[in-house]
Amino acid sequence: MNEAEKSKPMDIFAGDPRGADTDLVIVTAFEDQASALSAKWAAPTGGEIDRAVASKEFTGKLFETFLTPIVDRGYRARRVAAAGLGLQGDFTVDRARRVAAAMGLKARRKKIARVAFVADGALTSADMIQAIAEGLTLAEFDGGRYKTAGYDPFDLAGLGIVVEEHARGIAQRAARRGRIIGEHCNMARMLDNEPGNALTPSVFAERLSQIAQSGGLSVDILDHKELERLGMGLLLGVGRGSAEPPRLVSIRYEPAGAPASPVLGLIGKGITFDTGGISIKPAADMDRMKDDMAGGAAVACAMRALAELKTPTRVIGVIPIAENMPGGRAIRPGDVLTSAAGKTVEVLNTDAEGRLILGDALWYAQKCGATHLIDIATLTGAISIALGKITSGLFGTPPAFVEHVRATAERAGDRCWPLPLYDEYKDQLRSEIADMINTGGRLGGAITAALFLKEFTGGLPWIHLDIAGTAWSEESKPFMPKGPTGVGVRTLIEVASQIGNWKLESKN
Ligand code: BES
Ligand code: MN
Ligand code: ZN
Repeated sequence: MNEAEKSKPMDIFAGDPRGADTDLVIVTAFEDQASALSAKWAAPTGGEIDRAVASKEFTGKLFETFLTPIVDRGYRARRVAAAGLGLQGDFTVDRARRVAAAMGLKARRKKIARVAFVADGALTSADMIQAIAEGLTLAEFDGGRYKTAGYDPFDLAGLGIVVEEHARGIAQRAARRGRIIGEHCNMARMLDNEPGNALTPSVFAERLSQIAQSGGLSVDILDHKELERLGMGLLLGVGRGSAEPPRLVSIRYEPAGAPASPVLGLIGKGITFDTGGISIKPAADMDRMKDDMAGGAAVACAMRALAELKTPTRVIGVIPIAENMPGGRAIRPGDVLTSAAGKTVEVLNTDAEGRLILGDALWYAQKCGATHLIDIATLTGAISIALGKITSGLFGTPPAFVEHVRATAERAGDRCWPLPLYDEYKDQLRSEIADMINTGGRLGGAITAALFLKEFTGGLPWIHLDIAGTAWSEESKPFMPKGPTGVGVRTLIEVASQIGNWKLESKN
């Protein structure tokens, strides 16, 4: 799906999988319970499933697969794949999502265009069906569009879910929701993949604007002049070293009939490339810094999904955008910048630029009326020292809000874990000449970065997700190829969908 397109529906096949008009039927089994497949699948596969189970070729271990022809011509599909769900006791909604994604990827590798996933047994609830739809959709992502040779893209042409007859209505709604969420994750991944020369600040702003507008959202792009008028000295300071001036994109989702409050403010870091500026980064792996806008992409794509889902909550998206370059007009270590909120910052390291642009963006979100703030940013290398590349850092206040987001993210399949914001760490941000410095040193680097942001939250309920370790996968997994992960998109959508039902204090 491209940025201007509407979402493509999934097929729901209700009743017997014989009738499913597809190429590959996907069935599942828990580990050491694979013989449960026999009753239904031994005959249509000419005994092959039984043989594979008996020989332990297929045992139901997580992501294990066994693919075999269907010999019974009563089926429209020509093949069936058994997929392992792992141990029943370890099973979660996220495992269902991952298994569906793994099977979608496997079908693509085998050039099987149409698949239908049988949602039976433990997979019949609306949550599970939504997760399967998300997983199959995530498998559609293809990051190879700059290749001209040796590139043989293969698109899945038909994604379906087989459910029991009585579940048709529930399944249609759940699959539609999962489909939309998966497509918007993929949209964010597409943006994350774009190189810095293609995705300059003005191009990124235009693309976000297109995404928002095609979803019926209102958008405003603030240029350099308007940022000056608003006094956004932090964002302007970071942008100074680049020939490409900074921008700030604000997106409004104001569904008819939504209550005046809460107004959820989503703030996403949009550094289109991070060289580090004058405090320049080493050459090794610097190319990775093209995805330093993953938070900004997540915010815009999540908001477009919310609009398609007609979520009845007001949301404001703020994406500060700049390229962090060491040009002749770049800020220097030791420079003091004044933020739109009035606080002064001594920039000791120009590579700690994310917190600077987010400081002004947090202020702007409040100016636009946000009552609750969630920011998402590839903010610190230190977060991967703390949590590795599996789990995003979760910070915020009050604790009940943090726990709510943690639990929601878990179901959405974005792993994150809370880290503390004790006041004592603030000593590391003390400046001799300004209100604070922009880097707290090596120890607890993700925490001091979060505390820096907290200074700009005006005491509102606030969540910060540090996705520096999780936005990009360095190795391919059965359920996800190397590259952009789209982390955070699903969490932002689900948190926004539930915020109206959840009593949040407006002050902590
Ligand atoms: N964009 C980086 C953080 C990052 C690092 C993202 C690795 C993805 C992978 C951020 O702007 C940065 O450079 N942070 C510095 C902060 C330091 C100078 C205080 C860092 O983490 O080294
Ligand atoms: Mn940086
Ligand atoms: Zn950065």
